[in-house]
Amino acid sequence: MEVIKNLHSYMAYVVLAVLVFAVVNALLGWLGKKDFTMHKDLRISLFALILSHIQLLVGLLLYFVSANGLKAIQTLGMGGLNAPARLLALEHPFINIIALALITIGWSRHKKFMESDKKFKTISIFYGLGLLLILSRIPWSQWFN
Ligand code: HEM
Repeated sequence: MEVIKNLHSYMAYVVLAVLVFAVVNALLGWLGKKDFTMHKDLRISLFALILSHIQLLVGLLLYFVSANGLKAIQTLGMGGLNAPARLLALEHPFINIIALALITIGWSRHKKFMESDKKFKTISIFYGLGLLLILSRIPWSQWFN
């Protein structure tokens, strides 16, 4: 249980850093009208996709073993959760699943286009929205406190 929580906490740094990198790279490619290359741009986007999916799986696992996940809802009931507890047990998991869906859609859609600017634009928008959603529901105050 502690192992899974620590893994989720440490991986969050890596996932956020790689996602920011992928979004900035896509924005620079889009606005700078660059060529979308297989050895750089595809790899960065794929790396961000894979890492965020691993984080999703670890998060799902954590949701079922942590006292602050499903157990909190079972013990306190939906209405019994205060704001910090609701963030951990409901908002963070729910919003992050949506964020991961957006990132996955962005990945699939970018492959349908041949033009570099459309690929970069798709990654920028979908990964960017996903990242914003994730950032909006990070439990900042308890992250390594
Ligand atoms: C994919 C992006 C995600 C990121 C960047 C992320 C990041 C974080 C961070 C920084 C914390 C605080 C850790 C700490 O207290 O040290 C946390 C806690 C938590 N996360 Fe995530 N998370 C993600 C996805 C998910 C998903 C999809 C779920 C569940 C379906 C989830 C479930 C949880 C739970 C239950 C906690 C509270 C653990 C506890 O306090 O025992 N996370 N997450």
